[in-house]
Amino acid sequence: MNLGWLVALVDVVVAFLLIFGLKQMASPVTARSGIGLAGAGMLAAVLAALLYVLDVAPDAQPHVTANAILAALALALGLGWAWWAGSRVPMTAMPQMVAIYNGMGGGAAAAIAATELLGAGQGASTRLAIAVVGGLIGSVSLSGSVVAWAKLDERLKRPCRIKGQQMLNALVMLAAIVLGFSTILVMPRSPGLAALFFFAALLFGVLMTLPIGGADMPVVISLYNACTGVAVGLDGYVLQNPALMVAGTIVGSAGTLLTVLMARAMNRSVRNVLFANFGATGSAAQAGAVGALKPAEASDAAIFMRYARKVIVAPGYGLAVAQAQHKLYELVKLLQAAGVEVKFAVHPVAGRMPGHMDVLLAEAGVPYDLIFELDDINDEFDDADVALVIGANDVVNPAARVDRSSPIYGMPILNVDHAHQVYVIKRGQGRGYSGIENALFYAPNCAMVYGDAQAVLVKMIQAIKDLTAEPQAA
Ligand code: TAP
Repeated sequence: MNLGWLVALVDVVVAFLLIFGLKQMASPVTARSGIGLAGAGMLAAVLAALLYVLDVAPDAQPHVTANAILAALALALGLGWAWWAGSRVPMTAMPQMVAIYNGMGGGAAAAIAATELLGAGQGASTRLAIAVVGGLIGSVSLSGSVVAWAKLDERLKRPCRIKGQQMLNALVMLAAIVLGFSTILVMPRSPGLAALFFFAALLFGVLMTLPIGGADMPVVISLYNACTGVAVGLDGYVLQNPALMVAGTIVGSAGTLLTVLMARAMNRSVRNVLFANFGATGSAAQAGAVGALKPAEASDAAIFMRYARKVIVAPGYGLAVAQAQHKLYELVKLLQAAGVEVKFAVHPVAGRMPGHMDVLLAEAGVPYDLIFELDDINDEFDDADVALVIGANDVVNPAARVDRSSPIYGMPILNVDHAHQVYVIKRGQGRGYSGIENALFYAPNCAMVYGDAQAVLVKMIQAIKDLTAEPQAA
């Protein structure tokens, strides 16, 4: 029976599910169902591919049984491992997980290209040329993502730079391109040449990623994610599989947009992220960062907030490090119960991955209508009695507004310094990701509440509970 029409129909449904799922992921309210829809789309795409192999592709018939067993084994291994690893990964290790999964996508795209180049497809030269490009991009994405994973997981701690790095990178890239096209034009289907081509492409991914600082890895992963999408889309063309073309194109364009938006939110270009050695140079001193810091007790800050009219919370990377989101929301609920208006202000690049703070706050059960993006809340700081900064540094640094010599000059920041009183929770004098001093901490209306965010919040909660309990005990 020819089930080609069914495969085509499933492909259309897959395209719809992936596009609609992605659209739903744009809002925290619908993101969960969006992920479910896109996942269902992926499952349907896998089933359509199996249907195609079993019923439509006549060439595959002699190998069907062996292929089906191998495919079932690969699916079982992949599903089992992803389920096990995904259900155990802590929130702070999410970027690493994204990096490694993305690398696997690139590797899979490169493997498809390899089978085509080694003759399985017996394809026309246009298809082979596309396979070379897909293989190149997929391999770079694979090895680059593995290096990004190692950096995020702190297995590779320092950026590794050598003299003439960019020239070396350019030469390796050129070699990969020449070797790739030689596998079509000079020695078709030569395993040795193909192996050299993939080796050069993988090496380029490593060399390209090694010099970039660990904190820039989220942008790099997003870029490699876009590359994986492009490679998969090209493979879709090679295999004439519409579901792959659609999925790859969506991932490619969404990844590109995300990369550009992340760079823009830091007021940097993608080129600057990739090549500028950010944070390693430049002065740590910033205009306005003079005088003495004013420490405050957690209990005093809590009581001040308890009697405030409006408090705006600005969370940052330290909240994720301390895993203090649940305690934070407990404090916020106590303040709300005391009649204080509380809002959350989320900077687009607070933390270390897109939506980092949204995910943390959602995990703690903070209602979405309390969470505001920078543009929607920045004017409200003028009207706030307290801005409570928790583990945030760069995203609240006023130097970004005024200090032209600052590496973060021009980056939009949360206007916490406009609040009547600012409390900053952090462990000590540690700098932010950009490595620069923060003038906010020296401002007359700012006090520092030193300690791990979770420990400080526990003290604040206790102070408010004690305050509420006192009149009853009397
Ligand atoms: P950062 O500027 O990195 O500052 C985090 C602060 O948290 C540090 O100053 C640190 O000070 C404090 N901290 C660390 N652990 C803590 C803990 N357990 N308890 C309390 N405080 C703790 O964070 P941010 O303000 O969120 O800014 C993010 C930065 O990352 C931006 O510069 C952004 O450009 C960059 N970046 C973001 C992304 C994305 S997509 N989000 C991607 C790439 C780069 P102490 O050591 O003194 O505690």
